[in-house]
Amino acid sequence: MTGIICGTGSYTPSYVMDNNEIATMVETNDEWIKERTGVAARHIIKDETTVSMACEAAKRALADGRVDAGEVDLIIVSTISSNIILPCTACEVQKELGAKGATCFDLSAACSGFVLAYNTALAYLFGGVYKTALIIGSESLSNLTNWEDRSTCILFGDGAGAAVMKAGEGRTYLPVTYSDGMKGKALTCSSRHALADTCRMKDPEYYIQMDGQAVFKFAVKKVPEAVSEVLEKNHVEKEEITWYILHQANRRIVEAVAKRLDEPMEKFPMNLQEYGNTSSASIAILLDEMKKDKRLKSGQKIVIAGFGAGLTWGASIIEWG
Ligand code: UT7
Repeated sequence: MTGIICGTGSYTPSYVMDNNEIATMVETNDEWIKERTGVAARHIIKDETTVSMACEAAKRALADGRVDAGEVDLIIVSTISSNIILPCTACEVQKELGAKGATCFDLSAACSGFVLAYNTALAYLFGGVYKTALIIGSESLSNLTNWEDRSTCILFGDGAGAAVMKAGEGRTYLPVTYSDGMKGKALTCSSRHALADTCRMKDPEYYIQMDGQAVFKFAVKKVPEAVSEVLEKNHVEKEEITWYILHQANRRIVEAVAKRLDEPMEKFPMNLQEYGNTSSASIAILLDEMKKDKRLKSGQKIVIAGFGAGLTWGASIIEWG
């Protein structure tokens, strides 16, 4: 018994902010951003929220998988940027879908969130606890972005991606996941709920702060290690892998991972040029894009790998259904 992805969906805001627009806010330019990150634009919420994007991506994933909301018995939303604390975002998705039988909860693991949501749902399906799961990554990082900090505001974007998983016959691959709270200082954002005084909203502590070089070095070391480990653990050769779908943070990180794994760049699809870093939504949005343009085919083995705040990182193997 395993969990098989049978439908995907995504939602990205229609408002597109290109690098030239960012250059009107902070001292930067299109050439620097493209060269150092690969990002050309990002989609930013106007009327949307983390909840509304999660709902839309979820509806699209159910429609794509031809799964009725009544069949869904687990909804997990990975987010660090919801517009609400209570109820959890997953319960709001349940309400919108009318998925009355679902157990719902949110998961917070930043840019590793979608990989962990996948692993969590997989464990429930493998164990026979649930039969149909909906996993969603939805983020409005623009709300946590300090638009006066050029070292971070160029990176992030908003959006949501979702996948429906059904229990079915097949092999379950064991994931590889790690956390290192001791290195948490590299990427932080304090809770706004701790604010006694709204004037402190100006305080940089309440926005994403990052030691970019430390995170970069961590990612290019730990991601290839995790990918190699997940292959070894499951006795899968790298030649068997069709796609490595990495969290979309920086083109140079993806290139460095490919190099360290000694695998061709063609196996590393990217869409960060259009969306920037959408944290836990990034892998799900890319999976949806690749399913819709038919790059994903039945039987392909795919590695998904996430990394980010915590620090957290991990990799899983998916056999496409
Ligand atoms: O989701 C996971 C979390 N995040 C990540 O994966 C991010 C990982 N880190 C990175 O992607 C890169 O470290 C950044 C893209 C954030 C920065 O690139 P970098 O090559 O590490 O640049 P840097 O921080 O070393 O800065 C180099 C120079 C500095 O100037 P000096 O000191 O050499 O004169 C910065 O002040 O570039 C300057 N700089 C900029 N210049 C133009 C920093 N940000 C900008 C900017 N535009 N936006």
